[in-house]
Amino acid sequence: MPRTPIVAGNWKMFTTARTGRELAAAIVKGCASLSGVHVGVFPPFPYLNVVADVLKGSSVALGGQNCYPANEGAYTGEVSPTMLKDVGCRYVIIGHSERRHGLGETDEFVNRKLHAALDAGLDVILCVGETIEQRKAGKTEVVLEGQLAGGLAAFRADLAPRLTIAYEPCWAIGTGVNATPEQAQAAHAFIRRGYADLVSPQAAAGLTIQYGGSVKPDNAAALMAQPDVDGALVGGASLKADSFLAIVRAAVA
Ligand code: PGA
Repeated sequence: MPRTPIVAGNWKMFTTARTGRELAAAIVKGCASLSGVHVGVFPPFPYLNVVADVLKGSSVALGGQNCYPANEGAYTGEVSPTMLKDVGCRYVIIGHSERRHGLGETDEFVNRKLHAALDAGLDVILCVGETIEQRKAGKTEVVLEGQLAGGLAAFRADLAPRLTIAYEPCWAIGTGVNATPEQAQAAHAFIRRGYADLVSPQAAAGLTIQYGGSVKPDNAAALMAQPDVDGALVGGASLKADSFLAIVRAAVA
């Protein structure tokens, strides 16, 4: 089944209102004549509105980097999925390793966010991935299996078109050491098989699985040429329009 790749720019805690606006405008311009790829940008919360204005009427979608699993309430400092939807987000990233490992988010908490986001009408990018210690100990598949089962608990097959999974090995994020295309393919194929068991073979055939972790213009094409790699979740290289657009073009090549 042909799957449309998704290239997402995770800006993390970078940019200002001005540089975010400029970056978004350059990405809109660079994507204007492209088809066959979904492109999204994920600015910090304070700049969502600013960037939403720039993206209006373009093919580039807006996303949030995180959300809290409730629509409203006394949760100081948190942002709800309905708020993200309200400012024009299509997507939200859930379970990023910087939140799992840096901020102690569990699979159970990730799962609550997933359901809250889907209920609010957001499309979800669910991140999974092993640490270097887990890989060295031969535990990559066990870890991925656990993150999928935990993160996708009570997930309904009819919501499958609104879910993307990002395979992001922790050791490749921000390190300049990307997974090799073969390592990425092996993990992606494993994720697709696991998802087939959890949801359905049909949903698995249509599941978009992005690779993330030190994706750059010079490695993007080889990674995305793998049969089970459907796009990229890009951190560092998404902060410059030229490098991000080169990765977007590699997804349609
Ligand atoms: P990186 O980040 O491209 O800077 O490695 C990827 C991510 O964290 O999503």
